[in-house]
Amino acid sequence: MPSYLITGVSRGIGFGFPRQISEDPNNVVVGLRDKTATDKKVLVELNRPNIHIVQADLTDYESLKKSVDIVAPIINGSLDHIIANAGYISKWSQYSGIGVLGEMDPKRLEEDMLECFKINVIGNIHLFNIYMPLILEGHAKKVITLSSGHADNELARGFKLLLSAPYAVSKAAMNAAAVKFHAQYADQGVLFLNICPGFVDTGMYDDATEEQMKAVTGQGAAFRKYSPSFSATTTPEEAVAKILAQIHLASLETGYGGDFISHRGKGEKWL
Ligand SMILES: NC(=O)c1ccc[n+]([C@@H]2O[C@H](COP(=O)([O-])OP(=O)(O)OC[C@H]3O[C@@H](n4cnc5c(N)ncnc54)[C@H](OP(=O)(O)O)[C@@H]3O)[C@@H](O)[C@H]2O)c1
Repeated sequence: MPSYLITGVSRGIGFGFPRQISEDPNNVVVGLRDKTATDKKVLVELNRPNIHIVQADLTDYESLKKSVDIVAPIINGSLDHIIANAGYISKWSQYSGIGVLGEMDPKRLEEDMLECFKINVIGNIHLFNIYMPLILEGHAKKVITLSSGHADNELARGFKLLLSAPYAVSKAAMNAAAVKFHAQYADQGVLFLNICPGFVDTGMYDDATEEQMKAVTGQGAAFRKYSPSFSATTTPEEAVAKILAQIHLASLETGYGGDFISHRGKGEKWL
């Protein structure tokens, strides 16, 4: 029975993973986050016996540690896949350049960076370390992180992508962390792979002001220059289907270990 542990399943792209993976009754899906709220959503929208929601917060090491005792019996002590989907992007820093943020409020910039790091980097590092004994017992041994094209320095450099600096820095750091995990665990057969889901509409600009939307539109124009075939955001369902296809395709033997790839495939554009 292939098993999947997925973080951040309460909404957005994250909810699409249990939805699609649980379609096969042989799969076991464990979602980490707010148990009460997510259980309700799963019951109403999916109601499948192969989905289990367990309480854990990436910024709370003890809650992650506690979750293992609940998860291990559900998956008979062996875990095939981790999908580290949970992520944080700040509403405050996603519309302005790093210099503007520093001028506006340096203390807030510091806090914003630390929050991005806590969730997007340190939380995932703890998650992987805590669940590594179960992964080493698994068959697939795949540890996937949702990254972002914002972490691609060549893209940001070439097209002057100035928005979401704390988020971009944290995603780039997590790409580096996955490489370090690869360096340690490749010899034991564990694949670490970071995948960008593309530009997916999960409501991140729902409450943006007109001025903030101007900044987003400017970024969209840069995206279109980078990838002329890019026209609009995709849905979580489309993104999840493409990410799952890449997860199943990727292997250590074919050179994916520690890599950072697009949902469209290895070496493909992010959008
Ligand atoms: N959407 C895009 O276009 C896009 C593009 C590139 C990369 N990504 C990446 O793809 C992933 C999913 O994106 P999304 O747009 O679906 O995000 P989203 O709608 O903002 O959802 C984020 C998820 O992460 C959870 N989360 C936040 N903080 C957490 C914590 N401390 N512990 C555990 N879970 C936490 C949230 O739970 P709550 O509901 O409880 O807050 C939610 O389930 C993220 O890693 C994001 O950076 C997205």
